[in-house]
Amino acid sequence: MNQELTTQKNYWDRTVSDFDAIYSHRKNKFDNWIDATFRWDMYARFDYTMAHSEPIAGRAFLDVGCGTGRYAVEFAKRGATRVVGIDIAANMLEVCEQRAQTENVAEHCEFAQGDLLAYAPREKFDVVIGIGLFDYIRDALPVLSKMRAVVTDRAIVTLPRFWTWRAPVRKVRLALQGCPVYFYTREKIDALMKQAGFARYEMEQVGQLWCVTGYVSRST
Ligand SMILES: C[S@@+](CC[C@H](N)C(=O)[O-])C[C@H]1O[C@@H](n2cnc3c(N)ncnc32)[C@H](O)[C@@H]1O
Repeated sequence: MNQELTTQKNYWDRTVSDFDAIYSHRKNKFDNWIDATFRWDMYARFDYTMAHSEPIAGRAFLDVGCGTGRYAVEFAKRGATRVVGIDIAANMLEVCEQRAQTENVAEHCEFAQGDLLAYAPREKFDVVIGIGLFDYIRDALPVLSKMRAVVTDRAIVTLPRFWTWRAPVRKVRLALQGCPVYFYTREKIDALMKQAGFARYEMEQVGQLWCVTGYVSRST
């Protein structure tokens, strides 16, 4: 792992509980209010992803930057036959394993530590997702191209919008914690999706994010 990835990994390894608390709401009232008011798009992107992943039952999913497994385990609970989650942060993956056990879907789930660019899957997946991942990727094209290479139906990704009030605040706050963040314009995403080899894509503005679904085939 290069220095940049190691710095990212260290950041995520030490912020596992804080990150997962955004979903569990195990916070004080004020912090829950902050999440509901300023981070509502994190909940909306979950709904977007589930809706755009259908049909889920019987299909195989790859979750890149799976974090604490909120998406991966949900796919398995909704009937996905195989779900692989990869993440650079070992502490995140520990939570994924526990969550899959607790939800009785461990036999359908596999979690592995690593970077997508170094990952060589045995077979392709129907759907690949990268949610809250591209915020932290300096060079998005190789990652998006690899996602395209390992998928047979579609890729679902979220990217933080460039022109928002939150972008400079996040940029400075996370840079100070050793976690650089990157932002995307509509034009940048258009070029990335085409260069990565998706036949077509659709894109929705959700709060301070872009939610994007790229299709392998023009007719899907
Ligand atoms: C904001 S969290 C999102 C987690 C999850 N996708 C979600 O939305 O709940 C970003 C995750 O991406 C992981 N990550 C960052 N860069 C990565 C990379 N190059 N390869 C794999 N995982 C990465 C981090 O370790 C972290 O767990």
